[in-house]
Amino acid sequence: MSSDRPAPGASPRWIRWPDGRPRIGFGGDYTPEQWPREVWKEDVRLMQEAGVNLVNVAIFGWSLIEPADGVYDFATFDEVLDLLHTAGIAVDLATATASPPAWLVTAHPEILPVGRTGTVLGFGGRQSWCPSSPVYREHAVRLTEKVAEHYAGHPALALWHVSNELGCHNALCYCDVSAAAFRRWLERRYGDIDSLNEAWGTQFWSQRYTSFEQIMPPRLAPSFTNPTQQLDFARFSSAELQAQLVAERDVLRRITPDVPVTTNFMVMNGIRDMDYAAWAREVDLVSNDHYLREGDPEPQIELAFSADLTRGLAGGRPWMLMEQSTSAVNWGHVNRPKAPGELRRNSLAQVARGADAISYFQWRQSRAGAEKYHSAMVPHAGADSRVFREVAGLGADLERLEPLVGTTVSSDVAVLFDWDSWWASELDSHPSQDFRYREVALDWYSTLWRRGIAVDVVPASTPLDGYRLVVVPALYLVTDAVADSIDAYVRRGGTVLVTYFSGIVDEHDHVRTGGYPGAFRDLLGIRVEEFAPLRAAETAGLSDGTEASRWSEDVVAVSAEPVLTYTTGTYAAQPAVTRRTVESGVAWYTSTALGDGSREAIVDRLVADAGVTPVASADRGLELMRRTGPQGSFLFAVNHSGEPLTLEVTGHSLLTDQPVGPRATVAPGDVLVIRESA
Ligand code: GAL
Repeated sequence: MSSDRPAPGASPRWIRWPDGRPRIGFGGDYTPEQWPREVWKEDVRLMQEAGVNLVNVAIFGWSLIEPADGVYDFATFDEVLDLLHTAGIAVDLATATASPPAWLVTAHPEILPVGRTGTVLGFGGRQSWCPSSPVYREHAVRLTEKVAEHYAGHPALALWHVSNELGCHNALCYCDVSAAAFRRWLERRYGDIDSLNEAWGTQFWSQRYTSFEQIMPPRLAPSFTNPTQQLDFARFSSAELQAQLVAERDVLRRITPDVPVTTNFMVMNGIRDMDYAAWAREVDLVSNDHYLREGDPEPQIELAFSADLTRGLAGGRPWMLMEQSTSAVNWGHVNRPKAPGELRRNSLAQVARGADAISYFQWRQSRAGAEKYHSAMVPHAGADSRVFREVAGLGADLERLEPLVGTTVSSDVAVLFDWDSWWASELDSHPSQDFRYREVALDWYSTLWRRGIAVDVVPASTPLDGYRLVVVPALYLVTDAVADSIDAYVRRGGTVLVTYFSGIVDEHDHVRTGGYPGAFRDLLGIRVEEFAPLRAAETAGLSDGTEASRWSEDVVAVSAEPVLTYTTGTYAAQPAVTRRTVESGVAWYTSTALGDGSREAIVDRLVADAGVTPVASADRGLELMRRTGPQGSFLFAVNHSGEPLTLEVTGHSLLTDQPVGPRATVAPGDVLVIRESA
């Protein structure tokens, strides 16, 4: 994609640094309300020592700011903001609406969220609110207004932080208030009940409705609930939270039009309820929280995928990594610390992928509460600790990287990502309950990552013309418009790879009949009559001698050329992978999940078809990324391995302030950032 994007320094919608100097944001969630005043002074001193320049304040501040209905007390945060400002530290100030206080829940227990089985989720955790509750909305918007009015003009205020991880725990609420809101949402979407009946296919199982008032959320039922009802409920639930974001944002924009607004997304493994492609349009600055999943042997790949998707949501513009952990989390089954050097390496890898601010949960590790065993920048052990020393080291590194602030990443390859497809493809009553949407995307992404190829992970509706290669993983639900855009892209000379379980249904989750993969059948020149998903330990032999997994199909090549065929099972001798030249482009299809070796060989041919090259010539395993802008070209090389790795590059290392090249060595676990010679 081209890099005609506004640089943050030049944009009024990037973080407003009090002195106007563009810099890489560095800090964490700061919770002074959990500590006595004496600790605040030490906090600020240590922040300065660590190079912290931006902290996220008042995220769970509601009960302190509004101790009783309509009674406000800003004393604590006033003092804290003044202290921070005096120390030159900017503030990303929360609207404080993430968790309603006990007095509100006691007065209005109807705001509590309700699970699918009808269980009310009680107070005592956090996010105890129903996204459709008008009572919650009214109180949250009123609080936002009070906070914005009070802090408008405060010199430390650099960025607004709406709520916190909207939908982390309360995305799907099945209460009666939600049911009523769902009905209104459906009325707006369909206009009349006949259109809804048509879209939901309610002739099936006698589900026909004669009035919107008969409709319920997909609560636990004796059997599978209607799939389109489930899909629409997912869309509705995301839209309700988006409306909360917009309601708070509108207040902030009215009162402080110059202060940019963000909210922290959760683009990471395991979270799928929010359609961030739609949400991203509502914020001035896209920010993301990312936590590694325990047990992933190569967590750096999922981390990179999430970062590339976050950048895709940001339209290529610089973004903020709002939260990550310095070391262990507290919410896994067994929570282990990060290895020495990992926090630095992973943070710099996010900068490599376009982040211009790096922040952590949280500044100081809590003494009490459910997160006291979650790591922080200042751990229980205090500043005399490995973690704090690594944090301070990272702060110094980020300062050295200031020359690249505002530069952007360009890529010739897009991987399409789509929340409708995610929701619809993983519904119950499907060919396989083992199917995982994100896994299909990650398979192909990981091969491109290993080849050192830069990738944008982008919403499916993104214009594709700037890309040489487009990967379409399991685009199960596809509108005619998106199918047409992919088709036209190939005919104009693009190269596309479509995977199994793509093009199957329309926007109502109705099958596109006549043979799979419906919407892409003609483009790919194939026809599939039946899916044959594989069981967990089952494999299918392929003509290249490898074994595929998860899925297989009885593919008939109509006008495509078979590239690999099945060698075992019912479909032996039928195509498994096909390729078709379409006007000046090429369309590939894979009907199964290829093993790593086979996928690599196909990627070799894909990049040859498309004329895509790696970011640099380097040893395998080195993570590579390039940021460019008016100030130059900056190559990142991140070594996640235990061996020294080398690459070809000539320039100047920003982190060590030394000339580099023509061949550079990246020590085990280390990172190089090189301003490349012109
Ligand atoms: C996030 C949340 C933070 C903290 C963190 C712990 O979900 O926004 O407040 O709870 O996780 O990993």
